[in-house]
Amino acid sequence: TGTVLKLNNGVRMPALGFGTFASEGSKGETHRAVVTALNAGYRHLDCAWFYQNESEVGSGMREFLASNPDAKREDIFIVTKVWNHLHKPADVEWSIRDSLKKLQTPYVDAFLIHWPIAAESNEDRTVKIGFNGKYVIENDLTENPEPTWRAMESTYSQGLARSIGVSNWTAKGIESLLKYAKVRPQINQIEIHPFLPQNDLIKYCMSEDIIPVAYSPLGSQDQVPGTGEKVSTNTDLIAIAEKNGVQLAQVLIAWGLQRGYAVLPKSSNPSRIKTNASLIALSDEDIAAVNKVAEGRCSRFVNMKDTFGYNVWPEEA
Ligand code: A2P
Repeated sequence: TGTVLKLNNGVRMPALGFGTFASEGSKGETHRAVVTALNAGYRHLDCAWFYQNESEVGSGMREFLASNPDAKREDIFIVTKVWNHLHKPADVEWSIRDSLKKLQTPYVDAFLIHWPIAAESNEDRTVKIGFNGKYVIENDLTENPEPTWRAMESTYSQGLARSIGVSNWTAKGIESLLKYAKVRPQINQIEIHPFLPQNDLIKYCMSEDIIPVAYSPLGSQDQVPGTGEKVSTNTDLIAIAEKNGVQLAQVLIAWGLQRGYAVLPKSSNPSRIKTNASLIALSDEDIAAVNKVAEGRCSRFVNMKDTFGYNVWPEEA
């Protein structure tokens, strides 16, 4: 289904990916969604250790492969990420091995640092929470993630991950990472949609040959604090969808793909999973119309500041 992007190490990544993060995932929901997505043609699955559903992704993928003898594991691009409290080198390796076991695969296609924040853990590898209810930040590894990146590179050289990268990183963070990286990051996964167009960060990543991957490309159904606005109810965006006789989600996915990066729509509804894989092409005029809606906006729907007690985007105050 659609375009394939080439990472800076030559690895090929399908530009349309399926997001597996389900905040209220009831048991079996992720498994069913993954089977539906693979049958609908998605060949890129975005996972994370933190989502706590990687066993279901693994069983869904195995069920799909068993019932489609022509399809192979190598046809699917699988991503996982290491959570904040597992940034110590030994924990990074433990994390990917734990994910691989659950995903039932000997390697992932990309392994990312989920957030540019290191947090302390308890001895049983659970997150340490402070008296204020927030993560206890591991200052040294947050300020200087070089040991964490070395461990990421080690998973790469061991063949546990075919590519490595970051998620939720700013240009400033990537710039300092590039000073010591022996293996350059191949991916930066960030929130992108018309209310958070991220033009500067996308341009920076592309200039460094790091592919941006958009999470929440549909605007996540959340409201802009204060105004109550939503991407999904924006009348200008809906007009573009109506003009093309398609759903708004298809417009948002096309806008991302045509801007040159990967997108990860997520849905647990079988019919919407299929709709989102039914790709359309937007005219230059329609792209310009979405850009106009996006102009000057910066509404982040995923902001973990209150949970982490740490602001990843200080420049946005
Ligand atoms: P559902 O799982 O019920 O389909 P994002 O990827 O930006 O985080 O957005 C995910 C949200 O968008 C989910 O709430 C999902 O709900 C919804 N969604 C996914 N696909 C569509 C679609 N084609 N039309 C409307 N809503 C969608």
